[in-house]
Amino acid sequence: MYQQIGGEAGLKKVVDHFYERLWVDPELKAYFNEIDGEQLKKHQAMFLTFVLGGGANEWSGVSLGSAHSELNITDSAFTKVAWHLTMTLNELDISRSLTMIINGFVEGVRGQVVSA
Ligand code: HEM
Repeated sequence: MYQQIGGEAGLKKVVDHFYERLWVDPELKAYFNEIDGEQLKKHQAMFLTFVLGGGANEWSGVSLGSAHSELNITDSAFTKVAWHLTMTLNELDISRSLTMIINGFVEGVRGQVVSA
């Protein structure tokens, strides 16, 4: 999967595109307003790990549930973030099959991330 997405450079592109989309989305940007650069980098690293299918719930020892429990993330916000990720992958010509695998991972953690 790492090779399919274009290695290190490919992953960086995915993450950059993804966050550019999130930050200009009126429904989502408020979630990231108060977040400092270091936290965001962690979030990015998390998504990278995720894209690679690596231990999504192991990141920095913090569970996905506790990392997001105070954020009041709605089902609709989660759907929007997942959609932005799919659109990012489409724009960067990531294969349909890999995109579907990634979407599967994302949907698998919806219940842990959504808290509102
Ligand atoms: C597949 C879905 C997601 C994954 C894998 C993921 C992963 C993570 C992880 C691991 C952290 C904690 C980083 C750390 O401090 O160790 C985190 C924090 C955060 N996530 Fe997510 N996240 C997801 C979805 C979302 C969504 C849908 C939103 C907002 C709509 C969001 C907003 C945030 C914010 C704002 C933080 C920082 C919290 C803070 O600093 O207090 N995440 N995410």
